[in-house]
Amino acid sequence: DLYNFRLIRPDTKVYGIIGKPVGHSKSPLLFNAAFKSVGLNAVYLHFLVDDVEKFFNTYSSTDFAGCSCTIPHKEAALKCMNDIDPIAKKIGAINNIVRRPDGKLIAFNTDYIGAISAIEDGLRGLNGAIPSGSSPLAGKLFVVLGAGGAGKSLAYGAAQKGARVVVANRTFERAKELADKVGGKAMTLAEVEHFHPEEGMVLANTTSVGMKPKIDDTPLPKHALKHYCLAFDAIYTPKDTRLLREAKETGAVIVYGTEMLIRQGFEQYKNFTGLPAPEDLFRQLMEKHA
Ligand code: ATR
Repeated sequence: DLYNFRLIRPDTKVYGIIGKPVGHSKSPLLFNAAFKSVGLNAVYLHFLVDDVEKFFNTYSSTDFAGCSCTIPHKEAALKCMNDIDPIAKKIGAINNIVRRPDGKLIAFNTDYIGAISAIEDGLRGLNGAIPSGSSPLAGKLFVVLGAGGAGKSLAYGAAQKGARVVVANRTFERAKELADKVGGKAMTLAEVEHFHPEEGMVLANTTSVGMKPKIDDTPLPKHALKHYCLAFDAIYTPKDTRLLREAKETGAVIVYGTEMLIRQGFEQYKNFTGLPAPEDLFRQLMEKHA
């Protein structure tokens, strides 16, 4: 009983994920188990949604309490919101929507929070004590490969933490546009291969290079990786991309795309419920149903 149907009553809070396709999403499994574990009177459903504006107009008067938002609605849903987290607004994409007690819809982008917090924790492990309140990304040279949706999330997220951002992309114009917005530097993927003004840089791949089925591809050759102290890959199929395997071999700390995925879920749960996320439960379920 994925949805715990027997527990649904008229006053049960309704959450869900809107997308198309959406049936494959594991979010209902995670959130329903989490709600049950703390005895919350709430349910989380799959919503196959074609027209996102129609969805919000139709359901705005009911007590649907919040939803996650996935492909292809992350951008289109923006215009249906009453309030948007400032960084999510800059990124131009949302994936987490909460109905406030006054009925207004407030939206967040938990993808960038998930990725950046995973990278920060990776750096903390590397650098030892960092003054509380300051980010280990502050002042770091942070190279983002790719300038699509995920590239924007990483670039804005890192810039907000005080990193010096470089955006490298196959299509230079897209790199330039994003770099200008975050006050960073733009280059092509070919140029970034020879870009190493200092050691200990941070690398974040957001291109699709290395994704299944082309698992032997990599966006940056191994010789260029030795200048990085940490490498993150937004790809999670496979988890162990060639980029991450080679970065590990050259001595970098690596952060998996799966970590971004799970942490963005923690943030959604916190925003929905105001409670801390049941992190161990989420991790166990993700592993069991991988
Ligand atoms: P997402 O929302 O996942 O970031 P996207 O917006 O389609 O997806 O962006 C895909 C990114 O991967 C882009 O930066 C794209 O580069 P271009 O802007 O030049 O298209 C990059 N990308 C995709 N295939 C690539 C390839 N074979 N080599 C290099 N970069 C590639």
